[in-house]
Amino acid sequence: MRVVLVGAPGAGKGTQAKFLAEHYDIPQISTGDIFRANIAAKTELGTQAKGYMDAGELVPDDLTIEIVGDRLAKRDAAAGFLLDGFPRTVPQAEALDEMLANLETPLDLVLELQVDEAEVVRRLSGRRTCRNCGLVWHVEFDRPSKPGVCDSCGGMLFQRDDDLPDTIRRRLEVYEEQTAPLVGYYDKAGILRSVVATGPVDEVTKRAITALESVQR
Ligand code: AP5
Repeated sequence: MRVVLVGAPGAGKGTQAKFLAEHYDIPQISTGDIFRANIAAKTELGTQAKGYMDAGELVPDDLTIEIVGDRLAKRDAAAGFLLDGFPRTVPQAEALDEMLANLETPLDLVLELQVDEAEVVRRLSGRRTCRNCGLVWHVEFDRPSKPGVCDSCGGMLFQRDDDLPDTIRRRLEVYEEQTAPLVGYYDKAGILRSVVATGPVDEVTKRAITALESVQR
């Protein structure tokens, strides 16, 4: 199964990707996570990406396309993958089409997670991430039993630099300008399914699986 998740910042792509990747036993490939790991490791890629991310802008296409090309070439992606946060521009979508055409493995489905803007702002401003294991929490919707501490590993929780109000606003503008056109792009290709991504996380997962199964059959 080769799937792309598309949706506004905070739509729940990372949250759902974790469950769906486990359910279908395919790797979750998140460009945001790859950039953040590079920032933490202070690599050249991380240094280049950080300025864009902190400003709420997209990392340039050439850099992003290259890291996804390298990641998709790894053996664990041969039987399928779930892309979370890529593509994010039409040139990235065209580059992905080309990569997959060369491998003769076209996408099965693009799943759009639909959430309104007010909900996105609530989700992003309350999101907290574990510094140790990367698990994502929310101060209101998915509270750890002890504030600021991860229930799973005891690590300290932190707020992402790009989850501050001005940056959230810019990320939403960038989504509308550069990423929302992908919905039309994939609809035209006949591989788009959309699900309402509000309500309990497990309900959204069920809707997503129903959409994915409709294509598998
Ligand atoms: P990235 O990390 O991809 O961020 P994003 O797309 O902005 O998405 P988020 O991670 O913010 O949100 P999400 O949809 O995964 O939501 P989550 O599940 O965490 O990218 C960051 C930056 O990297 C970009 O701005 C850009 O600079 C760069 N970048 C990345 N990819 C790029 C690319 N392809 N090209 C160029 N640049 C790129 O959920 C959010 C919160 O809501 C959590 O607290 C969660 O607990 C909560 N939540 C989730 N589901 C529910 C629910 N059903 N009900 C209530 N709360 C919920």
